[in-house]
This record gives sequence, C-alpha cells and structure tokens, in this order.
Amino acid sequence: MAGQRLIASCFLAGLLFSRGLAFSLPVLNLYAVVGEIFVHEFEIDDFKDAFPSSMDENEPPEAPVTFHTNLLDYPDLPRWLRYIQRTPYQTGYLYGSPTSKELGKQTIEVKAYNRYTYETARQTMIITVAPSSDGEMPYQADFLVKNWDVDEVLPADIQDLFLQAVDSMWEQDGLTVVNITSALDRGGRVPLPIENRKEGVFIKVGSKEPFNECLTKVMSPANRNRCKLQQQPALTCYDTFSPRFQIDWCNLTLIDLTNIYTTEAVTIYGDGVLEEGSEFNPPDDAPDREFFSDFLLTFLLPFLLALLLALLLAYIMCCRREGVQKRDQKTSE
Ligand SMILES: *[C@@H]1O[C@H](CO)[C@@H](O)[C@H](O)[C@H]1NC(C)=O
Ligand SMILES: *[C@@H]1O[C@H](CO)[C@@H](O)[C@H](O)[C@H]1NC(C)=O
Repeated sequence: MAGQRLIASCFLAGLLFSRGLAFSLPVLNLYAVVGEIFVHEFEIDDFKDAFPSSMDENEPPEAPVTFHTNLLDYPDLPRWLRYIQRTPYQTGYLYGSPTSKELGKQTIEVKAYNRYTYETARQTMIITVAPSSDGEMPYQADFLVKNWDVDEVLPADIQDLFLQAVDSMWEQDGLTVVNITSALDRGGRVPLPIENRKEGVFIKVGSKEPFNECLTKVMSPANRNRCKLQQQPALTCYDTFSPRFQIDWCNLTLIDLTNIYTTEAVTIYGDGVLEEGSEFNPPDDAPDREFFSDFLLTFLLPFLLALLLALLLAYIMCCRREGVQKRDQKTSE
C-alpha cells in the first residue's frame, strides 16, 4: 500500500518536474560558414514569453535572464563556440569561427533562467556548418581594437562599420571577418574600471588579395623598433579606423597562408599523444626483467655503509677511550 503511494507520488513529482521543464521554444536552424565568424544573439524578449509566469501581472517588467548553452548530451560547448553575456539584462551572444573539422550539423541546447522566479525555458538550435563558397581567405590581418569589448563588436552592423574602415586602408572588396576574440582570451588584462576602459578585442579580417603597402609598412623594422620603445608605428596612410576604433598597430599581425600553409598544417605529435578516437591498449606481454642488481644497489649498499659506520663508531667508543687513564694520571691520590 505504502509502496503504491510512493510510486504514485514519484510519478506525480516526475510529471510536475517534466512539465516545469517542458517550456521550450521551437527548434532554430542556423547556418555557419567555415572560416567566417558566426554570431547568434539571445534576445531576452524572445525567451520571456516562454516562462510560465509571463502571464502574471505582478511580475517585474525587466527580469534578469541568464543563459546556459551546451552541445546536446555534453556539458559544454564545442571548442569553436564561445558564449558571452555581460549582465543578465543584456543580450547574450554565441559566437565562434568554425574550421573545416566542424563541417556538418551540431545541436546546441540553450537554457534560459529567469533570475527572479527561477523558471527555465529551453531551446534547441541546430547549427549547420557549410564550406565557404568562395574558398579560403589566404591573407588575414588581425587587428587589436583597444576601445571596444568583444560583445560590442559582435552585432552585424558594428562588424560592417569595422569592415568599411579596413576597406579604406587595405583597398579591397570581398573582405570577411574571420574571427573575433576578446583580448582577455589572448593574454590581455582586465581593465581598471575607470575612464570607461575596455577589455579590447582582436578582429581578424580575411581577403583573397595580398596586403597593400600601407599594411605591410606597419611591420617594417623601423616600426618594430618604435613598438619596442612603446611608441606607435608611423603609418604611411591615413588611419581610417580612428576615432571610432582605436587600433593598437603594434599588435597587428599579418598572416599569409599561402606561405606558411605547409609548415603549419603538419603537426608532428610526440609518441605520448594518442590519435583522435583511439584508445590506449596497455602492453600485456612485457618481457621478464631481472631486478636483483637493482635490489643489491638500493638495499645492500646503504646497509653495508651503515654497518661500516656503526663498526667504526663502536671501535672508537670502546677501544680508543683514554679517559680513565688520563683521569688517573692527572688526579693525585
Ligand atoms: C578564433 O579565435 C579563437 C581564440 O583565439 C581560437 O581559439 C580559434 O582557433 C580561432 N578560430 C579560427 C578559425 O581561427
Ligand atoms: C600587444 O603587443 C605587445 C608587444 O608588442 C604585448 O606585450 C601585448 O601583450 C600585446 N597585447 C595583447 C592583448 O596581446
């Protein structure tokens, strides 16, 4: 009887629990292209209606919402994806740059938490990673923008503004944003909370055409020397980024994949690294080994030494005593 009741209440709890979790949004299909930045925005408003209490009148209008994202059936995101949301009142961003290893479909699970009511809503996203239609961008320039944070440059309109600025300097069309990384992920420091300082963000832009003189001159030996003296390089052309984007020209990297491709693609692993997907098989037919000499060395040698010292000490203590004779000589009777 009691067992039955227990089962019934477990069932009820399970039902309530699953209903509590069942508020999910429709599946979202997204597309990403190899070698191009992928950005998805989580708007808090999209998730608000999915929370069960959204019908209540007494709910505060601006509830803080946080998101948790993971690859379906895994605890974390795939390696190429990152997630950032600065505060629970702001839009969250899922972003990253897929490589050709990530081709295919990946299912991402998103859970939104209402921080006032602790309700959750979930959404499943299917990201299809496709190869780029214009192939690889062999010339890539990596800019460090000092006065922006990573989540501020992720919206498409800001990326466009940045590309326009690059365009005026590199004199190129067909530029794409290859990657966006917070400077904090690349060794930068958290800024002091004064003067509106920003973390800084690296934006990598790719093109099919080689760099022009304006960009290559930044890397000249004279300019490298100025960087060593903590001065900004002398630009030969007008800095079209300024004042909206402040570029740290000393941290500019120009990557020419047509040259370094062959050396970079071949990674030689040491023999301690397992190949992907393989298992470690411990050897089970190890040859017999003789450890007697090692035993002698580790036990007998210290033992003999200790014995020798003990004998020496015993000899000194017992046979070389001169105290009694000396005392008898020196004391008068
Ligand atoms: C993008 O940047 C991140 C962080 O620096 C790095 O881990 C990732 O490999 C980069 N992706 C590509 C395709 O360059
Ligand atoms: C920028 O470059 C300088 C050296 O030129 C280096 O010390 C610094 O760490 C770089 N900044 C970042 C965020 O990588």
